[in-house]
Amino acid sequence: MKILTIIPTYNEIDALPTTVDRLRAAVPESEVLIVDDNSPDGTGDLAEQMAAADEQIHVLHRVKKDGLGGAYIAGFGWGLERDYDAFVELDADGSHQPEQLPDLLSEIDYADLVIGSRWVAGGSVVNWPLHRELISRAGSLYSRTMLGLRVRDITAGFRVFRRSTLEEIDLSSIESVGYGFQVDMTFRVARQGKTIKEVPITFVERTLGESKMSSGIVLEAVANVTKWGLCARAKALAKKARAYQR
Ligand code: GDD
Ligand code: MN
Repeated sequence: MKILTIIPTYNEIDALPTTVDRLRAAVPESEVLIVDDNSPDGTGDLAEQMAAADEQIHVLHRVKKDGLGGAYIAGFGWGLERDYDAFVELDADGSHQPEQLPDLLSEIDYADLVIGSRWVAGGSVVNWPLHRELISRAGSLYSRTMLGLRVRDITAGFRVFRRSTLEEIDLSSIESVGYGFQVDMTFRVARQGKTIKEVPITFVERTLGESKMSSGIVLEAVANVTKWGLCARAKALAKKARAYQR
């Protein structure tokens, strides 16, 4: 199985080298694609140096900071043009432990999407401020309810997609710019009747650099989830009404 681990970066110059070293040690067969949004701190240049020293490391540069969703879609596109079988999402800041990636990969033969989950038995978060935990738990609960999903950690950013799963999604139609992209992908995979498996992980809050989370990112996600939930309900109602008329 050919694996591509995609790492989106924006100002991650301090955290990126350790994360990549840990990943290369934990899953040596995985190739790495760093998707940098022209980070002012020089992360893109550092990524180029890392790529020059290791042929399994690649870099994609985007012209400006344009959101996590866009960065992943660009990374998926790059990988789909090549012959990778599995696509991993991994944060650059060390919150996702590369040493736990084998746990996720061992399930990809049995699921279309594997999610490294904080909110299933055995999963946890370390050093997360209470407000972040509340936003994440509330976000997952709201999304579960609105979208009728059974996944516990819907916004999780540590994932493995099978190639076929990505091929069957129209990536160009994804509008989510921020972390709501994760919800968007989960919803699309679930709606196609595909298998989603959650594996417990320990999410460790970063010690280097800063989170890019913002109120705008939360608002975008809430607005989209509400819209998708209402649309799905309206469609279901219309279907019932048509069946009733017959
Ligand atoms: N290229 C690019 N462009 N990368 C970005 C952007 C962007 O606009 N915004 C964020 N990133 C990168 C960061 O550099 C980091 O590697 C990763 O995406 C996650 O960003 P963080 O800012 O560290 O996210 P977080 O720790 O607050 O949020 C975590 O939890 C969210 C909610 O569960 C992440 O795991 C998210 O993926 C997750 O959705
Ligand atoms: Mn983080």
